[in-house]
Amino acid sequence: MSKPIIAVTGKNGQLGFEISQLHNQFPEFDFIFTGRDELDLNTPESIDDFFKKYSPSFFINCAAYTAVDKAETDIETAMAVNATSTGLIAKHCHEISCPLITISTDYVFDGMGTSPYPIDYITNPINHYGYTKLLGEQLALQNNPKTIVIRTSWVYSTHGNNFVKTMIRLMKERPTLSVVSDQTGSPTNAKNLANAILDIIQTIYYKKVNPEYGIFHYSDKGVISWYQFAKEIKAYKKLQTKVSTTTTDNYPTPAKRPKYSVLDSSRIKDVYGIESLDWKESLHSCLDKL
Ligand SMILES: NC(=O)c1ccc[n+]([C@@H]2O[C@H](COP(=O)([O-])OP(=O)(O)OC[C@H]3O[C@@H](n4cnc5c(N)ncnc54)[C@H](OP(=O)(O)O)[C@@H]3O)[C@@H](O)[C@H]2O)c1
Repeated sequence: MSKPIIAVTGKNGQLGFEISQLHNQFPEFDFIFTGRDELDLNTPESIDDFFKKYSPSFFINCAAYTAVDKAETDIETAMAVNATSTGLIAKHCHEISCPLITISTDYVFDGMGTSPYPIDYITNPINHYGYTKLLGEQLALQNNPKTIVIRTSWVYSTHGNNFVKTMIRLMKERPTLSVVSDQTGSPTNAKNLANAILDIIQTIYYKKVNPEYGIFHYSDKGVISWYQFAKEIKAYKKLQTKVSTTTTDNYPTPAKRPKYSVLDSSRIKDVYGIESLDWKESLHSCLDKL
């Protein structure tokens, strides 16, 4: 008997890569990892062709237009990749009764909260990237009742571009570095999120619990500023740079960033038993490989 297929988009991104690193631990499934060449989210025909060719049992959508500042001007592409394509994937998944797991972001919130955001907290994106991701969530949930949206935050990995790798590079190049201390959130090691997603799929597949769909939050445990994040990277890697604080006002970017971005990850624990892992230990395990 053939194995159930898990399709994964964004194989060259941080999360897609981490899932590909873990997939051998899930031998009961066949995996299809796609990049832009095989499945271009900016081309609806490419999505249609994929579903003509394959009939996955689970679909994980890790691909996204993640260039937050560029999305302010490259509006149409960001919308096509993050919103329209997510809706189309969900429609195809619904036709074959395939659960869809699609990843969203803390940027759906405006950052004005003061305590961790529950899944039903009012959304109000303050940049175009956040707006397109929110629309993607809504289309996915509308087009496929078997959709799980996982919002996450401050993602990093040994692979790809991210804050951790940028900090290490800059700390090696510069004697001093200023990092914003007035944005608060929770870092997420992409490997932890990859594990959480595959655990959820296994739980649904083996019917360990009654599957629940809808919105979930997952980030690693802990609440810090980018400055504190940078300080920990410096300390653990024993780098000599002097790290000082700055404010968002001193570091203008085309897209606004939310000030407070902490997600309440309790639903994913209550429903699927996924426990958030400590941010510092998770960071150290990534830094050990860099
Ligand atoms: N990174 C974060 O801090 C963060 C925070 C919150 C939520 N998220 C969400 O988490 C998910 C995973 O993020 P990530 O950090 O793994 O992102 P990433 O490293 O930037 O990877 C995104 C992937 O999407 C692919 N992609 C972009 N446009 C595409 C297109 N038109 N067709 C097909 N593939 C396309 C990219 O392909 P190429 O490699 O060819 O460019 C890349 O492999 C995304 O949904 C993101 O919005 C990320």
